[in-house]
Amino acid sequence: MEPSSRNWQTPSITQHKLGAMNKYGALRDSAYVEAMDGVRMDTLLKTYGSPLFVISERKLRENVRTLLRAFQTRYPKVIHAWSYKTNYLSVVCNILHQEGSFAEVVSEFEYEKARHLGVPGKYIIFNGPNKKLPILQTALREGAKIHVDHFDELYLLENLTRHSKKLVPITIRLNFNTGYGEPWNRFGFNLESGEAYEAARRIASHPKLRLTGLHSHIGTFMLDTRAYAAEIKILCDFMEAVESLTGTWIENLDIGGGFASCNALQGIYLPPEQVVPSFDQYAETICTTLLEATQNREARGKPRPTLTLETGRAIVDDAEVLLTSVVGNKKLPDGRRAVVLDAGVNLLFTAFWYHHEVRPIRALEGIPEETVLYGPLCMNIDVMRSSVFLPPLSAGDALLFSPVGAYNNTQWLQFIGYRPNIVLIQETGEVSVVRKAEDLNVMIGQEALPKKLQNSGF
Ligand SMILES: Cc1ncc(COP(=O)(O)O)c(C=O)c1O
Repeated sequence: MEPSSRNWQTPSITQHKLGAMNKYGALRDSAYVEAMDGVRMDTLLKTYGSPLFVISERKLRENVRTLLRAFQTRYPKVIHAWSYKTNYLSVVCNILHQEGSFAEVVSEFEYEKARHLGVPGKYIIFNGPNKKLPILQTALREGAKIHVDHFDELYLLENLTRHSKKLVPITIRLNFNTGYGEPWNRFGFNLESGEAYEAARRIASHPKLRLTGLHSHIGTFMLDTRAYAAEIKILCDFMEAVESLTGTWIENLDIGGGFASCNALQGIYLPPEQVVPSFDQYAETICTTLLEATQNREARGKPRPTLTLETGRAIVDDAEVLLTSVVGNKKLPDGRRAVVLDAGVNLLFTAFWYHHEVRPIRALEGIPEETVLYGPLCMNIDVMRSSVFLPPLSAGDALLFSPVGAYNNTQWLQFIGYRPNIVLIQETGEVSVVRKAEDLNVMIGQEALPKKLQNSGF
């Protein structure tokens, strides 16, 4: 066909670069995402502004149900506790609580938030290294499941419970070397050094404390399911040893979080679909190991322990996306194309360690070219993607970053700009704002000025 002046496009030369192809073929740069759960992305942007976080209720519920099904069909007693720090938007917590998840909190704020949402103390797991006296007293009074992190916390609990009318069940957090990755040895009592046995002995000698649970969290984004098999074996050996040493009976094993989400961790060559285990794969390894390690318990009159999971990122990450719009184009001195977006690393903290998927929300004309995506902050660190192949973009074009549900709406920074609206697409297709965009009143709401500094002098 003869080119006409109407559809002529400026030619561009694309340097052939490693990375444009991988061994599975060309990168899927031209794919675009027009809608999520039947709701058009351009309509959402028009209604709620840009940038915009969008959560799918359907996906969130589906994920937690898939997790529970994978484990509950393989092991008789399984609990999921929602790790608040992963995403403590009220709407996310309540969806997961409605699905039966307990709350797993690590601070006074998170504890109070769980209580504010109506979670009774007995369904709250209170982790973390900093439980100050008043919140610890509240948690004890409300029957929360306290996971002790260190000896000073244990001494505090010993004093607080000395005159308690009932026995107070507690859990200790343990750390140890599974042989898979760098051990997280700054939380809990170390096993190899004997510290964990010492803690168990102290608890056993206290008149009111009773050790009923063991907890460990071996790391995060654990791609090798065998790490959990190692964790379970170590926990079960310790459980048996401590039971015969102190006469206590361990009712619960909490194996923490750490299952990888379907996100592309920087530095990992293969795409997440090929390296991230499914919930079934995690469950198969974990439950098989646990069933084997506890097979003789029932014969000895001890029920198998409940298995508690604190899965965070793998449940929420792919249930949320970030929509952002192009503010302007740049040509860098080395010839690469660059684009300034209206969302930066202050909103998408995980851009520091993931290569998120970036997709347009409509078909874009033109040849994909290597592009740097910058955020809007006047800071050099504000790089949303250092290299991604995208067709030419115009100001106003929107891009969709995914998955972004884990550790962004909690670790985001109140830096330079207002944080945007977050909306939920409900299962019915109805869209609701679940966190309003900030404005000047929010930003200055906590500030106070001494009298003589109440005006700027202009
Ligand atoms: C004690 C504990 N539980 C659960 C989690 C959630 O981990 P993830 O989001 O990797 O599943 C964390 C995260 O660091 C944690 O420290």
